[in-house]
Amino acid sequence: MTCVLGIESSCDETAAALVDGERRILAQAIAGQEAEHAPYGGVVPEIAARAHAERLTPLIDRVLREAGKTLADCDAIAATAGPGLIGGVMVGLVTAKALAMAGERPLLAINHLEGHALSPRLADPALDFPYALLLVSGGHCQILRVEGVGRYNRLATTIDDALGEAFDKTAKILGIGFPGGPAVERLAEAGNPHAVPLPRPLVGSGEPHFSFAGLKSAVLRAHQDGSHADADIAAGFQQAAVDCIIDRTSIALDAMPGMTALVVAGGVAANRTIRAALEGLANESDLRFSAPPAKLCTDNAAMIAWAGIERLANGVAPDPLDVSARPRWPLDPDAEKVRGAGVKA
Ligand code: KG4
Ligand code: ZN
Repeated sequence: MTCVLGIESSCDETAAALVDGERRILAQAIAGQEAEHAPYGGVVPEIAARAHAERLTPLIDRVLREAGKTLADCDAIAATAGPGLIGGVMVGLVTAKALAMAGERPLLAINHLEGHALSPRLADPALDFPYALLLVSGGHCQILRVEGVGRYNRLATTIDDALGEAFDKTAKILGIGFPGGPAVERLAEAGNPHAVPLPRPLVGSGEPHFSFAGLKSAVLRAHQDGSHADADIAAGFQQAAVDCIIDRTSIALDAMPGMTALVVAGGVAANRTIRAALEGLANESDLRFSAPPAKLCTDNAAMIAWAGIERLANGVAPDPLDVSARPRWPLDPDAEKVRGAGVKA
């Protein structure tokens, strides 16, 4: 039975996991860094890298012990090699290289976005290619046609902020903590989603791209205005995000016939209102809906190990020990460039 050790350290979660070819997560461990970054309201790269360096090796030890395995039982070591905060990525990748060298195991340098893109297949054995994927995280907001392992066709991206970033900024404006996504979701439960007039950037436009910068500015103005309850602002923001997602995704679905499913992944996919809205869209579109459990949506190492297993199963060659960490690494390098203030790769 194939067994892969996965390592994740591209942002603010240090994680290790052992996953096998039967989709079993044999052991996993995640150490978050909320306390370290909370005073700054965002992830500080240097603090993140140091925390990864301190925690990663004990986490790897722990998952091997919990699974009753040794390095010799692993068919490969898979680590996130980008995109992400370069200091953290280097900690994970260099650790993986050392283990690969010491244990004479193949090294798999995994694209973090590929980890998110394939994570739904770890949780859902019936999910077949090709599927339509909405990938929504702290750094990315993309719609992709996932044709197979290593075959990703990007139809849409954000022309400014990622959706998770918009959630985090909304939380910062409302002063409800970091990371912001779960805090906004919680506060929104107590609010009226239609009480605060907020824009739906790019809704109705012919291409399925996203924009959230204007929505974030409108949230700031609504908050400064002082006449709205915070819960109404949170609910209004979340509703605007849902309306944008549904409009943009349905435009993209029209451009990709023949999909087996509509799938959502990435940290923001943990949001229940967003999941429910997408499930509704899938039903209307006669598509299956698939979303990993919330724990597999936010950053984790099981998805990195799983991407490694998918690569091995597809006969993809391992990476050389001098493979580089990549701060930017698009899933679809051939995707058309879009114009915007700060286009994300
Ligand atoms: O995938 P992820 O863990 O890290 C990146 O690769 O970026 O995504 C983190 C993002 C953060 O912006 C966080 O606020 C958001 O996902 N997030 C959520 C929820 N849980 C996490 N956004 C909305 N609702 C949630 N429940
Ligand atoms: Zn991520």
